[in-house]
Amino acid sequence: MGKFIPKDTFYKKAKQDGYRARSAYKLKEIQDKYHIIKKGDKVLDLGCAPGSFLQVISRIAGHDGLAVGIDILPITPLPYKNILTMVNDIKNINMSDMLDILSILRFDVITCDIAPNLSGIREADDKNIEELYEASKRIVAEGLKPEGHYIVKSFFSEAFSAKQKDLKKLFTHVSVFKPTSSRNISSEIYFVCKEKIR
Ligand SMILES: C[S@@+](CC[C@H](N)C(=O)[O-])C[C@H]1O[C@@H](n2cnc3c(N)ncnc32)[C@H](O)[C@@H]1O
Repeated sequence: MGKFIPKDTFYKKAKQDGYRARSAYKLKEIQDKYHIIKKGDKVLDLGCAPGSFLQVISRIAGHDGLAVGIDILPITPLPYKNILTMVNDIKNINMSDMLDILSILRFDVITCDIAPNLSGIREADDKNIEELYEASKRIVAEGLKPEGHYIVKSFFSEAFSAKQKDLKKLFTHVSVFKPTSSRNISSEIYFVCKEKIR
């Protein structure tokens, strides 16, 4: 059992530390434990709004690195030269066009913190979640370098074991991590996937 932390502690801390969302601490915890992002890395962040993952990535990747964020919602620009953002649905991303525009071969790391917009209609929501999973898998297949790393949010659900099994076919190491900064009541977890198999 994780130690009890009052619900709004990370919200307040984010305000004090200048992060746009408490999610920043989830990525920081993952980074502290698994050392996923390195200085100079080119990182793609799927579902980036309002931008706190990008703030963390930008600091770690530094001047020679790049943090590219995609979201269906526009984000208020972040004042760092190594951050680029675009408004798009990840289902519509053409990876080869993106890599051409950025003049890079592949990304070193991909993060995906997408929370699907739920309609409450079970069938439609399940379809959307499945499509998002397939879209992110395609982006990883086409856009992540061999030996690259992938962090993806998931939820304890019927599909959890199937996803874990699926990711184990694509990466050498797949860990399941529940950050302390994630709300206790939330069923969210992160798959931390290291070393993409060619
Ligand atoms: C939990 S928020 C991400 C928070 C972000 N990691 C941060 O640190 O600021 C989830 C985001 O997923 C985005 N999203 C949902 N469906 C999407 C889609 N199909 N394509 C791109 N972004 C999507 C939402 O608009 C929302 O901003």
